[in-house]
Amino acid sequence: MSTFRPAADGVNPQQVPSRALPSGAKIPAIGLGTFGSDSVSGAEVAAAVVGAAEVGYRHFDCASVYGNERFIGGALQTIISGGVKREELWINSKVWNDKHAPQDLIASCKQTLSDLRLDYLDLYFVHWPFPNFHPPGCDVTSRSKDSRPYIHEKFMATWGAMESLAAAGLVRHLGTSNMTIPKLKLLLRDANIKPAVNEMELHPHFQQPELFKFVTDSGIVPIGYSPIGSPGRPERDRTPADTVDMDDPVIVNIAADHGLHPASLCVKWGQQRGQIPIPFSVKRKNYLANLQAVCGAPLTVDEMNAIAAIDKNCRLIKGQVFLWREDQSWEDLWDLDGTITR
Ligand SMILES: NC(=O)c1ccc[n+]([C@@H]2O[C@H](COP(=O)([O-])OP(=O)(O)OC[C@H]3O[C@@H](n4cnc5c(N)ncnc54)[C@H](OP(=O)(O)O)[C@@H]3O)[C@@H](O)[C@H]2O)c1
Repeated sequence: MSTFRPAADGVNPQQVPSRALPSGAKIPAIGLGTFGSDSVSGAEVAAAVVGAAEVGYRHFDCASVYGNERFIGGALQTIISGGVKREELWINSKVWNDKHAPQDLIASCKQTLSDLRLDYLDLYFVHWPFPNFHPPGCDVTSRSKDSRPYIHEKFMATWGAMESLAAAGLVRHLGTSNMTIPKLKLLLRDANIKPAVNEMELHPHFQQPELFKFVTDSGIVPIGYSPIGSPGRPERDRTPADTVDMDDPVIVNIAADHGLHPASLCVKWGQQRGQIPIPFSVKRKNYLANLQAVCGAPLTVDEMNAIAAIDKNCRLIKGQVFLWREDQSWEDLWDLDGTITR
């Protein structure tokens, strides 16, 4: 692994905005995504993690299913050996869907810690609320015969294992991801440790105002994934009806007014709106531009209102492979009528 040298053209990490969690801990208000979308190698992502830390990132969003935590562990070692203290970093990881059984979850977290070469995670997520496995790189029609719907009692057993990791000091905060309002209501009713954050798809064409409001009203901080509209997402997550945030004239025009790339404007809008965007990039120019955009002059109220008005309710990460019956469509995963689909 390469060496770590703070970049002269980077951003001082202390100038990067942060958000306070209910624990009082401060989480950097932008992170680097690390999902290589089945096409970018672990070594490339690890090199980007070092490069991003050199330009001022301190928050990295990992997951066991991304298949690159061993590489990222090397990158984190390089960063820490280079003089960044562990407590200055904010590292997320997530348990995958086939490891929801409590003993499997605990073993998976320990494997992640070993791969990332860390003693603790700042934030540990249940990646999806469904205990359903699909092989990495599978196509959109792939279904597992063992797939099941959300079963709250089972999820609470999973959450209990998450709480035991927190009690043991292996993870500092717990998070949910890909949840809906009815599922979160049950979790908030029954959890001993409430989720500090909820990771959800958020970009200008998919603003999820109702879930966003529920989450923030509940004292949970939203983390926005695919903040640029995931232009590099796998084939299985593409449909002809999908729209492209970066091509939206409102985005293009406001970006030009601020001298930003439309991608960086999407990231900036997300952070200013109140979510923590976690854009992915392995290109120095791009991840630096995204960080600089978040740290630059704010958008005006009129600009924020103009972007609020281009929401198209266009979900990109539909989750088809997690369906549990043949006669279903992806909407069934998202409890659109306010009740949990069985
Ligand atoms: N919890 C979940 O279920 C979940 C689901 C999806 C994603 N995530 C997390 O969210 C992260 C981000 O989401 P994502 O990777 O789907 O999509 P994204 O961040 O919306 O888009 C990433 C793409 O945008 C390009 N890009 C980034 N900055 C750019 C810039 N300034 N100018 C031009 N292009 C730019 C990147 O290409 P280059 O590399 O060429 O710059 C990359 O192809 C993931 O990596 C992962 O950590 C979580």
